[in-house]
Amino acid sequence: MSANIQRLDKVLSNSGYGTRKEVKKIIKQGSVMVNNSVVLDVGTKVDPETDIIEVAGRILDYKANIYIMLNKPSGVLSTTYDKTETTVIDLLYGEYSHRDLFPVGRLDIDTEGLVLLTDDGQLAHRLLSPKNMVPKLYYVEVNGRLDEQDVSAFNAGICLGDFTTLSSELEILQAGDKSTALVKIYEGKFHQIKRMMQARNKEVVYLKRLSIGPLELDEDLDLGQWRELTCE
Ligand code: URA
Repeated sequence: MSANIQRLDKVLSNSGYGTRKEVKKIIKQGSVMVNNSVVLDVGTKVDPETDIIEVAGRILDYKANIYIMLNKPSGVLSTTYDKTETTVIDLLYGEYSHRDLFPVGRLDIDTEGLVLLTDDGQLAHRLLSPKNMVPKLYYVEVNGRLDEQDVSAFNAGICLGDFTTLSSELEILQAGDKSTALVKIYEGKFHQIKRMMQARNKEVVYLKRLSIGPLELDEDLDLGQWRELTCE
């Protein structure tokens, strides 16, 4: 593991102990110990991965990055801030306001399901980079009868005017005047599944993301609920 040397006041602030000004006060009061010694210098350099930092007798549980799985409801924007609409960050009710969390990729406002929130830019880049072709699985309900021709068209790639989609997988669950299916796509263009269905003369009436790569939506999370991801 490479060293991760940072200022003590920054580490405490990033760990939710308050603003830089507030944590400086805590340090100067003598409430912070590093490796069993009280530290009064706010600029002391520490490695939060290996040094034992105690604040008022409690050992700091340092997290270099935060990863949150959210079950996004319809009506919520996949952005960090909006003047009028509720955003995915608003659903955390300030819990991680000391971290710069953002959603990895976007779901439409009326799409439900898995959103990953993190402050890990490198992971976000890896998941979003088109060259990595990370699969995203959706459950979809459409008006119209899905059939084998639709399956073949999704597989072949669908021309959407400005681009042709990569080969994707359509698994029909139920076919009728209304149909349900699972769709796996390997890219994430604007309104992609709605536009693919539209190209097949079907209208999406419900869309939910179930997984991103190996990360599956936890079925125990109700709409609007979230949980921090475990190491696994
Ligand atoms: N495809 C869509 O059309 N909308 C989404 O939100 C996600 C994928």
